[in-house]
Amino acid sequence: MDEILVKGGRPLHGEVSVSGAKNAALPMIAATILTGGRFVLRNVPDLKDIETICQLLAGLGASAKFEDNTAVIDTTGLFQHEAPYDLVRKMRASVLVLGPLLARMGRARVSLPGGCAIGARPINMHLEGLEKLGASIKLEHGYVEAKAKKLQGGEIFFDIPTVTGTENIMMAATLAKGTTVIRNAAKEPEIIALAEMLNRMGADIRDAGSTVITIHGVEGLSPVEAHIIGDRIEAGTFMVAAALTKGKIRLTGADPAHIKPVIHKLRECGAFVDADDEGITVQGADVIQSVDVKTLPYPGFPTDMQAQFMVLMSVANGLSVISESIFENRFIHVSELLRMGADITISGNHAMVKGVSRLSGAPVMATDLRASASLVLAGLVAENTTRISRIYHLDRGYEAIEKKFAAMGAIIKRVSAG
Ligand code: EPZ
Repeated sequence: MDEILVKGGRPLHGEVSVSGAKNAALPMIAATILTGGRFVLRNVPDLKDIETICQLLAGLGASAKFEDNTAVIDTTGLFQHEAPYDLVRKMRASVLVLGPLLARMGRARVSLPGGCAIGARPINMHLEGLEKLGASIKLEHGYVEAKAKKLQGGEIFFDIPTVTGTENIMMAATLAKGTTVIRNAAKEPEIIALAEMLNRMGADIRDAGSTVITIHGVEGLSPVEAHIIGDRIEAGTFMVAAALTKGKIRLTGADPAHIKPVIHKLRECGAFVDADDEGITVQGADVIQSVDVKTLPYPGFPTDMQAQFMVLMSVANGLSVISESIFENRFIHVSELLRMGADITISGNHAMVKGVSRLSGAPVMATDLRASASLVLAGLVAENTTRISRIYHLDRGYEAIEKKFAAMGAIIKRVSAG
């Protein structure tokens, strides 16, 4: 298995181009199931998760070719309605094929995703929402068996603004008979991007990005070409890295409007951040001020940036309280940061982070996608060398991250550990 070696102490400098957003590409690839035809999706990030969902589509009878960050998907030959466990367990976002399969085929058999490192991550809201659209849902042998001759429009209220739950229901509702209203919908930019693609396919979705989304069902949809928006979490990760290493970088390819909470917090802790239409410039300050952070649904501070920001606070000049309100177990990175000399105490869903003068390099292990990114960041400022194992977690969500950091002056490389 590959590992990443990072030698700390080098400020980052230069320009970096952010890849397309994994969490926009995945639902948009799932949306191709809704109709037969040839889709061309551009600026798709080259990630394990993209490979997995393309394998899943191939298993359904579609053809999915990926080259040079372009996915060409032909769903004409779609005949299967089952998403098998061995693919779904690799990537829980596979649940996004449930709504489209049900709408297109009238039935779907999708393995339950199971939990993951950061939490139980149930899909009850997805299933309750589909039942509100007239689907019959059975759970047996670890699979969701969903059936619906023709989905009917309905009113859905989410207890929690679930991102993929909103996406699943929005996709299913495009072909339902009548109107669907989703209340307490998630408002992420990736949802707006999905709705924009669906509307260009012929759907009739109103107010995606707000708390109440209305979908008027249509008879049929057509294939389109689409461009994936920049990855706001990859952008946020590089922005934090610039502040952490007291360097100066310029990011292109991500919309600053999608990452406002991180920009706000970086300015609050003393970094200089300038954003214009072409990109975002971040310059670190000599002294990093400790600030408090609470993760919230969009447009709040993203949970997917919590681990990365915690590294910045671990070398700040005071005490920071970081509260994780989205997932019940998203402090797994803390134990590895403690091994690198951080001073962090967990109490429930709060982490008290007392800044230390320097982290020290150590062999550490990645446990989930964003935790592994935080270990790379910690390595960038730790004394000596940090060796990160199990970086397959990183490869799920970051395209060539070590090459991008090396191009900004970091001493970082990928090694094969046999
Ligand atoms: C999406 O996951 C993202 N994944 C996650 O990014 C992100 O962390 C998360 O949204 C929150 O922003 C994709 O978009 C592919 P949720 P999702 O449904 O949709 C609970 C990454 O690193 N819940 O918004 O699975 C759930 O347990 C990944 O790229 C239910 O209880 O998250 C959580 O506590 C990690 N029942 C909360 O809601 C449900 O039916 C929010 O989860 C659904 C969710």
